Formats: sequence, C-alpha cells, structure tokens
Amino acid sequence: MKQLRTQVGIVGAGPAGLLLGHLLHLEGIDSIIIERRSQEYVVERVRAGVLEQGTADLMTEAGVGERLQKEGMRHEGIFLAFEGARHRIDMAEATNGRAIYVYGQNEVAKDLNAARRASGRSLTYGVDNVSVYGYHSQAPSIRFEAQGELHEIACDFIAGCDGFHGVCRQSLPPEDVRIYGRTYPFAWLGILAEAPPSCDELVYSLHERGFALFSMRSPKITRLYLQCEPDEDLLQWPDDRIWEELNLRLQTSDGWKPNTGHILEKSVTGMRSFVAEPMRHGRLFLAGDAAHIVPPTGAKGLNLAASDVRNLSAALGAFYKNGKERLLMEYSAKSLRRVWKAQRFSWWMTSMLHLDLGANAFDRRRQIAELDYVTGSPAAMASLSENYTGMPLD
Ligand code: APR
Ligand code: PHB
Repeated sequence: MKQLRTQVGIVGAGPAGLLLGHLLHLEGIDSIIIERRSQEYVVERVRAGVLEQGTADLMTEAGVGERLQKEGMRHEGIFLAFEGARHRIDMAEATNGRAIYVYGQNEVAKDLNAARRASGRSLTYGVDNVSVYGYHSQAPSIRFEAQGELHEIACDFIAGCDGFHGVCRQSLPPEDVRIYGRTYPFAWLGILAEAPPSCDELVYSLHERGFALFSMRSPKITRLYLQCEPDEDLLQWPDDRIWEELNLRLQTSDGWKPNTGHILEKSVTGMRSFVAEPMRHGRLFLAGDAAHIVPPTGAKGLNLAASDVRNLSAALGAFYKNGKERLLMEYSAKSLRRVWKAQRFSWWMTSMLHLDLGANAFDRRRQIAELDYVTGSPAAMASLSENYTGMPLD
C-alpha cells in the first residue's frame, strides 16, 4: 500500500472540494484532493450557472475570478412571468447594488482546476473504492485505489466534499445523522441551445402547462428548463416538442419568446430538498451537496457549497495558526444557519412557480396572488432580492 500524508484529505473535486483546496492553499495548508470521475467529466458536465454576489466576490478575492470578471454576465434583475406578462424585479435597487453572475459551474470547475495545477498541490482524478477511517481519533485516514494500486492518506482532517451520492456521509452510522428532506412530484428537463439569449436576464415562468425557466450561458448560448415528470423519458422529447412546449410556457403577450437553435444537450434533473445534520463528525467535515441539496429553483446549490468551504477553510486556518478549535466547533451550526435559509428560499421559489397536480383551484389562485404580491410590493421584492443575490456570508 502506498502511504501519503497531508493536513486535509479532501474527497471530491466538485466546486466544494476544489474551492476548499484553493482556500486552504491560500492559508498555507496542504491538502490532497481525490475524485472518482475523470477530469474531462468534471469540467465538461453541464450544471447550474448562477453565482451570488458573495460567491463571485469570494472567487475574486481568492484570485480565481479573472475569467469570471471577463466572461461572467452580471445581472441586476430577474423576471417573473405569469398570466402572459413578464414582471422585472430590480434586485440591485432592492439590495443596494448587489447582483448575480451567470457563469457555468463547469467554468468555475475549470478555473479552480487550473489554480490547483498552478499551486502544485495534489489532485487525482479517476480514483476508486474510497473509504474513510478513524475520524473520531486525532489521526483519520482515507484509502483509495488508483491505477490498480491501494493508497492510504494519513491526515489531520477529512473534508467530505463528495456530493449527494458520496461515500463520506454514507459512512456515518445512521444514528449519528439527522436527515431532513422532501422530494417534489416534478423534475426539470434542461437543454443547452446554440441560440443567442433573447432577453438579458433570467425569466422564471409559471404557466398553466407548468413551470419554465429561461437562462443563458454566454451571448451565444441559451439554457432552458421545463417542469416535467420525475421519471420523464427523454426519448419522448424530440427537439421540436421541446421548443413547442418552451414557447407555450415562456412566450408573453408582448411577443417575447426565446430564440431557438440547435440543441447541444438534454437532461432531466430530479428535485429534492435534503439536509444531513450535523456537518461535523469528529475530524470529518461535510461540505456542499454531501450535506445538503436544494431544488434548483433558487439557484443556491453551488453558492451553499462555496459558503460552507469558506467557513471550513477559515476554521482550519485558525486551527493551524494558533491551535484554536472554536471555529471548528462552530462550523456545523454556523453553516447550517445559512443552509436552512437557502432551503426555505428554494422551497418557497419552487412552490410558488411550479404546477402541483395535487393542488386545488384555491391553491392555484393563491399561487397567482403570491406572484402578484412578489412582483408588486417593494417589501416582497426586497425579500426575494436579498435571498436571490445571497444572504450575508457571516
Ligand atoms: N470518491 C471521490 N469522489 C467522489 C466520490 C467518492 N466516493 N463520490 C462522489 N465523488 C465526487 C463526484 O464525482 C463529484 O465530482 O465528488 C464530487 C462532488 O461534486 P458535486 O456533486 O458537484 O458537489 P459539490 O462540490 O458539493 O457542489 C455542489 O454542485 O451538484 C451541484 O447543483 C449542485 O451547484 C451544486 C454544487
Ligand atoms: C441555470 O442557468 O442553469 C439556472 C439558472 C437559474 C436557476 C437554475 C439553473 O434557478
């Protein structure tokens, strides 16, 4: 068995693992990152694409925001559409100038991957059979296989940044973990299309045929989603049917609709809310999707991963600097307070904007009244805006 040694062993090279590795590097702390998938898979997979103001600032302060500043699209507002009309919410005005940045999660992964390579610290893709040991002792370890050889990392701490299906949370005895969650009776069919965005900002639409979302990735690429069944069969969705349905659900009476073009990618994403508490188990810390999942309607997943690892890197930084464990002790409760606010917001956006077949006529009228309120009341717009652009990081 090949023996390795580091300060922090990081499982998973999604945004949580890569950003944690980078923030630790800036603190002068060594880490080893291991990832099950290939590098191509991690930097090419199409995921979310909205960065809160605080996430964008964090990347910039950490020296990995150069391309984000150039290519990321700053949006100061969003539209909510219902009953044939689009209503703009001016988020910057409501929050004293805060905004969001549309920048693909895979671009974030590319930038962080490049920073990791430049740091010279360890990052290994394509590992197998990862397992974690001894996190209730002072000397935890991680084992994995790479190129057919067994490896063991001796470390001071383990960071479980391995996503919802990862091994770290699933290694915990069930009695040590409290699980909270709900699944939704719908999913999103998402496409990426070679079509210039026909609107400068995102449009979230509730239509009698179901929810639809207009988003983008670049001045040439539109990203669109349709509410569908959780077990929706993509084979039933030829390109023409997707465009027809998107047009029906998105077009407004002023004549606006998305531009169409060649579809580059199609996929179905399930929707769930999930929290596993606590986020610390001895010397094993969970961060990002490993500890919590939000439905995508609030665009919070990537941003929660970023705020978790910001807390964790600060706590580990303080520990290595002066031996103080206070921030490590506070990591779980502090992160969870922000996570739960994002859970509430994501659940609220989801219930406001989706057609729930279990709902009755009263519920539908109430849903429209809610949208009418949110797009008409400065207080309600301010509340949506502060949540959408991101609650404070501290
Ligand atoms: N060993 C090593 N790596 C693993 C293992 C394992 N046993 N299991 C999973 N992984 C890897 C996955 O392949 C993935 O690359 O961990 C990584 C987790 O990354 P993400 O799922 O992207 O989760 P996270 O980094 O927390 O980022 C959260 O990603 O899922 C989106 O919308 C979500 O934007 C949010 C963000
Ligand atoms: C996206 O662009 O992929 C996106 C935007 C907003 C969301 C979810 C996804 O709420």
